[in-house]
Amino acid sequence: YESTLSDLKDKIKSYPDFPKEGIVFRDIFSVLRDPACLRNILDLMVAKIELLKWTDVDVVVGLESRGFILAPLLAVKLNAGFVPVRKKGRLPGVCKEIAYTLEYRSDVLEIQQDSVHQGQRVLIIDDLIATGGSLGATCKLLSGLNANVVGCLVLLELEQLHGSKNVEAPVESLITF
Ligand code: PRP
Ligand code: MG
Repeated sequence: YESTLSDLKDKIKSYPDFPKEGIVFRDIFSVLRDPACLRNILDLMVAKIELLKWTDVDVVVGLESRGFILAPLLAVKLNAGFVPVRKKGRLPGVCKEIAYTLEYRSDVLEIQQDSVHQGQRVLIIDDLIATGGSLGATCKLLSGLNANVVGCLVLLELEQLHGSKNVEAPVESLITF
């Protein structure tokens, strides 16, 4: 798989100073548009999940917005359901919310209270970990619902930010920058 991974990494386009000066934006859409890359990403993520024994997952949680792309695809592969964590004010019914900060702003995330039950095995998916603010907050939301978070898996990790320190569950990535 190593050659596939380095090939994927090479194909991820980087945009300096987007969306702000000093930020290098790693664009996952530059690889998702390629059918072979998209399939490889999914296959590599499933292989990693099996290697880590993050199996028997009940629910795959995806983070709005870019986590919504990979999470449902993986949920189908894992025979699990899909649950969204959304930015505040977009989910109906009783929600739990949490404030969080990331690289260049802060925000509030929400989850529907009845979307995950006590003791369910949860895998959290996002496109990328930078500061870990988003994944850390999501883990806390799920702890609040007494879920069993087996881990967080992302496509890209920005290593120099040490984001996994801010996440209580184990964090794994396919590609590091
Ligand atoms: C981006 C990215 C991750 C998060 C990572 O989302 O998709 O979700 O930032 O940063 P962190 O590790 O510092 O929390 P963002 O909310 O910017 O936008 P999106 O709606 O396009 O996913
Ligand atoms: Mg995001």
